[in-house]
Amino acid sequence: MPENVATTLQQQIFTIRIDRPEKKNALTRAMYVSLISAMQRAEADANVRIIVLTGGEECFTAGNDIADFAAAKPGEAPVALEYLRALAATKKPVIAAVAGVAVGIGTTMLLHCDLVYATDSARFQLPFVNLGLCPEAASSLLLPMMLGNHRAAELLLFGEPFGAEAARHLGLVNHTLKSHEFMPKVMERAQQLAEKPPDSLRTTKMLLKSGMQEAIARAMDRETEQFARLLQGPEAKEAMGAFLERRKPDFSKF
Ligand code: COA
Repeated sequence: MPENVATTLQQQIFTIRIDRPEKKNALTRAMYVSLISAMQRAEADANVRIIVLTGGEECFTAGNDIADFAAAKPGEAPVALEYLRALAATKKPVIAAVAGVAVGIGTTMLLHCDLVYATDSARFQLPFVNLGLCPEAASSLLLPMMLGNHRAAELLLFGEPFGAEAARHLGLVNHTLKSHEFMPKVMERAQQLAEKPPDSLRTTKMLLKSGMQEAIARAMDRETEQFARLLQGPEAKEAMGAFLERRKPDFSKF
């Protein structure tokens, strides 16, 4: 598959790997399109029982490509949102395997995966405010629900990085793994699930998710409206300009 997204199917486990190491797996519009089509293929193929979503052994993803964000045109269809919707709607169990950085959507997409395994050196971050943006992927709903309001606010307002052990403690990660055992353990767990009765697995996933589906869709709509507004605003322009120019942003004028 082109556009820095690789897929493999082995023993009924469909692995989707984000593969743009030179940019820390930052996600471009073209990569979201590839991710969507990979999710659709996995969903349509009766031979696929489990989906593993990973960025490989070095890096999960540094989030949305900031140059892409900076070039976004007003009213442009948010393809990242389509990807998140596809991920949230997938009927088959999704295991996320996270090594290295998982920033922005790299962390929020995990809220839509069923299981999350991370290396013990993985780093998570929700830097939306630092970029002049706001939460997405229904994280403004799911994080307070999972962590409580105060802990969600701390992660989202400060946007500071946090480690794998903290993520496990918060319930964002199931287990942390040493680097050398990381992918073998993830694949072992995937294989265990692949050997279970598939209808029963999918029905259990559906039941686990069904109570929240409408609320998640509404939260994504609310967030998308604000995100699109902020993305075109002066605070985001300053924040992203600063990232691309490798300088400290100055928000004192706002
Ligand atoms: N968009 C575009 N390019 C990105 C990127 C992103 N989100 N994240 C990293 N890159 C690029 C860097 O610009 C750099 O490119 P260059 O080698 O051409 O200069 C390359 O990837 C390596 O990144 P670098 O910053 O040197 O790696 P690092 O290990 O020091 O830091 C991060 C890694 C992820 C902590 C840091 O790159 C970062 O903060 N990135 C931005 C994350 C972000 O805000 N994402 C958006 C969330 S909404």
